[in-house]
Amino acid sequence: MEENWREKLEKASLSRIMEVAYENQVLIPAFNVAYLPMVEAIMEALRETEPFALLEVSRPDITRFGAKSFQAVKEEYERFGDLAFSRLHQDHVPVIDEEGEKVDWKSLIEEALSLGYHSVMIDGSRLPLDENIRVTRETVMISHRRGVCVEGELGSVLGHEKGPLPPYEELFQSGQGFTSPEDAQRFVQETGVDWLSVAIGNIHGAITGAAKDQKKVEARLNIQHLQQIARVTGIPLVLHGGSGIKREYVLEAIKNGITKINIGTEIRQAYERGLGENSNIEEAQKETKEKVKELITSYYEIEGSVHILSKKL
Ligand code: G3H
Ligand code: ZN
Repeated sequence: MEENWREKLEKASLSRIMEVAYENQVLIPAFNVAYLPMVEAIMEALRETEPFALLEVSRPDITRFGAKSFQAVKEEYERFGDLAFSRLHQDHVPVIDEEGEKVDWKSLIEEALSLGYHSVMIDGSRLPLDENIRVTRETVMISHRRGVCVEGELGSVLGHEKGPLPPYEELFQSGQGFTSPEDAQRFVQETGVDWLSVAIGNIHGAITGAAKDQKKVEARLNIQHLQQIARVTGIPLVLHGGSGIKREYVLEAIKNGITKINIGTEIRQAYERGLGENSNIEEAQKETKEKVKELITSYYEIEGSVHILSKKL
């Protein structure tokens, strides 16, 4: 094993790490922090299994669950984080949120930039294409100045909105909301975005009502559609709604341009299960850690990926 792998990973920019992961088809999972004690649990799982991963926090993690604030997550990451295995990502800053309300996206992005997040996501997916391009380009300009990577989204990864979704099979077969390869090509060229979140059959786990506690549908992916997007974009692609996507589809997607996968619901539910009625935080952390380890070792099989990455850096 290479001696200086830790130093190499610690010093490398996230942009370079993602590029190397993309070129070598190494999956980088991004774990949503829905409750602050999850940071410690996720980091323990990473240290024991040695993949490279992101810890991320989205607006719903703060407003609907227990992540409290972007600052609180950053402070927790400072206590438990480790740059040899991870970086901190600001997930989903919507321009229009899941309730259809306008969001002051710029101040949220600026907050993450001043807190020292390593990457941010501007989610203009509920906007017309030209508007999405405009806000994403602006985010890229202010973020790149600080050396921070930007993820954008095109197409609709449904599921965070209130109310029931149409039956999954209907959504999948119709391709409703799928990312258009033509638009994706234009979006990447005109925004200079680093990574692109795509809709190819993936959906988000529910964050409201009784559905947020239920098992999520096992989504499939249209791999041919993904190939068309990958061919014309040439940057790392991102799969949102990672919880519960059938394993064979995820593995195929990694061979076709998907570099980052976001996992929220599955680990949040593990935490909440552990918490139980007595708010047992230790048990909640244990459940989270076990779930993260299981995903790394047997679902994605990316144990030890820091060693593959460090050799190529
Ligand atoms: O941005 C967060 C992810 O897309 C989470 O999706 O809760 O369905 O795993 P999930
Ligand atoms: Zn998402």
